[in-house]
Amino acid sequence: MTTDEKTSDLLVEKFQDLSNAELKSLSWGNEDCAEYYENIPIEELENFARLGGLEGGCDIELAYPYIKNTNTLVDVGAGYGRAIKNLLRIGYEGKIFAIERCSQFCDRLKKQYPQYAEIHNSDFLLSKLPVQVDVVLSLWSGISEFPGNYQYHVLTKLLSFLKPEGTLILETINHEVNPKNVFSQGQSYVAFSKYGTAYGYTPTPEEIASYAKQASAQIVDIINYETPTNRKRILYIIKLKN
Ligand SMILES: C[S@@+](CC[C@H](N)C(=O)[O-])C[C@H]1O[C@@H](n2cnc3c(N)ncnc32)[C@H](O)[C@@H]1O
Repeated sequence: MTTDEKTSDLLVEKFQDLSNAELKSLSWGNEDCAEYYENIPIEELENFARLGGLEGGCDIELAYPYIKNTNTLVDVGAGYGRAIKNLLRIGYEGKIFAIERCSQFCDRLKKQYPQYAEIHNSDFLLSKLPVQVDVVLSLWSGISEFPGNYQYHVLTKLLSFLKPEGTLILETINHEVNPKNVFSQGQSYVAFSKYGTAYGYTPTPEEIASYAKQASAQIVDIINYETPTNRKRILYIIKLKN
């Protein structure tokens, strides 16, 4: 057994002793997941998207009725460009902004989509866009990469990118399903890997509804869906109350 594997085993033991409530209040932050994304080879993340059934853009296709007739969109935590690729594939013609903290993904996005997307290499919590947009995308469990007690602030920040009549499209796994290849307890999970540790907390529909309510917004549609590789996931369509 390598030192890495021993450390990983010790960490798993440590987490097994924690209750869901303790895991929920564990002191980790979104910034603790940054190392993982800086180090993981892009092909490996692409492969995770393929295994999860997201690579082909089934989420984008299901949300497209809320996207297709709009002029501006921001993909928040855009990764290596999975959503942008699928938006272009199905014919989205609006202006695309992408905000992504990880520089290796931004290098890829700038190389691959120079004429299609305006790339902002920054933490979205600190980002400002030159215009308010029609659609904000936060896909592949973006909000779950923040502790439960911080998710309301994340939702508020995502909504702040929108025009008053705009639409936030938020995507997570189904909270009743344990994410694969991670150690999970209840809604909390942690993934140990040689690239870094990724933590997460999957909100319930009730929690999303309560964050939205506090932020003067509301869920106008919930799309429960299953990816082509049979993973149960949820798309939340959220609008500001005018
Ligand atoms: C699971 S990946 C999802 C990528 C993409 N949204 C998709 O659906 O394919 C999460 C991404 O969010 C980015 N991310 C996480 N926290 C961020 C933050 N605070 N600011 C900007 N990007 C962030 C990560 O670097 C990573 O690329």
